Amino acid sequence: MRRVNLGGSDGLEVSQCGMGVMSITAFYGDPIPDEDAIELIHKAVESGCSFFDTAEAYVAQHPVTKELLWNEEILGKAVAVIGRDRVEIGTKFGGRSAMTGPAAGDHMKQACHAALKRLQTDTIDMYYLHRVDPNVPIEETVGTMADLVREGAVKCIGLSEASPDVISRAHAVHPIACVQQEWSLYTRDLEEDIVPVCRELGIGIVPYSPLGRGFLSDDMVAPANDARQMFPRLMGNAFEANKILRAKVAAMARDKGCHTAQLALAWLWKQGEKLGVDVVPIPGTTKIRNVQSNCSAVDVPISDVELAELSSAFDDVVGERGFEQYMSSTYKVTTNAKEKPKG
Ligand code: ATR
Repeated sequence: MRRVNLGGSDGLEVSQCGMGVMSITAFYGDPIPDEDAIELIHKAVESGCSFFDTAEAYVAQHPVTKELLWNEEILGKAVAVIGRDRVEIGTKFGGRSAMTGPAAGDHMKQACHAALKRLQTDTIDMYYLHRVDPNVPIEETVGTMADLVREGAVKCIGLSEASPDVISRAHAVHPIACVQQEWSLYTRDLEEDIVPVCRELGIGIVPYSPLGRGFLSDDMVAPANDARQMFPRLMGNAFEANKILRAKVAAMARDKGCHTAQLALAWLWKQGEKLGVDVVPIPGTTKIRNVQSNCSAVDVPISDVELAELSSAFDDVVGERGFEQYMSSTYKVTTNAKEKPKG
């Protein structure tokens, strides 16, 4: 699989297709057993994927044992078995719901060291701010992240759900290697504002939910019976209307002899190429056959005609990309305190 430098030559080299591990322990159905998770991640590595994505916020109670399942811990266990030098680890700090303190200073440093422990490593390859802290100037947050780079705890810095203004201000303090942002056939708002600033500053883009939380595949036949049921596009009438739009993409995939999910991923790489940004999606899965299929999507060619056809497939998508509380910490809504003038 092709390798991509997120953030250019001083950034982080990762596989062109990454993998999100969140759903192994939480939010999209029941957690899978540890040994299955380790095998899944191992198979991903054997398929050429080396870039794995988790977060401090991905913590949930086991439905039966009630113990706390930290998603970072299962990735750490898998990496310990597979070999640290075969993977790049991406994890994120805080997030509105997980933010127990400010996104800067000692609190952030302690959180980073706790993540290192859960991940069983001494360096995080890509450390992201999960959601922008409205009360802490981004310069201060990135200043702390830069300290973590100097300490060797972190190699590169990323942001998630950051506005173009926040991205530029952050990049002026320390190079931002990538921005993690929802991007898929049916979520394309970032193309008009975040993509241009990333292109200008040489920042890579890591699309999250590149398969629309599973909707952009052949498998989701009914609204998901888990955290996804709160997402407006996957609810009731909206789900039915969006299914009609998806059918066109599914028919194109059948004609090309690939899966719908593969076409959705292949579109992202091609669209990134067209817009002049490096794109490394991180599809999440709990199944070996799906991770193998997602990795093979790097070989699905997309013509310019197909690109145009796919790009218009969800022009009439029904429903917001997230529910109200979710949207309240996304990049178009979150404000960020300005730095106090010095002196
Ligand atoms: P997120 O980034 O929020 O995890 P996503 O990557 O867009 O969302 O989609 C994840 C969902 O897509 C998961 O529910 C996953 O289901 P499985 O665990 O059953 O695989 C589903 N998914 C991932 N790859 C898939 C594939 N190749 N075919 C069908 N469904 C897939």
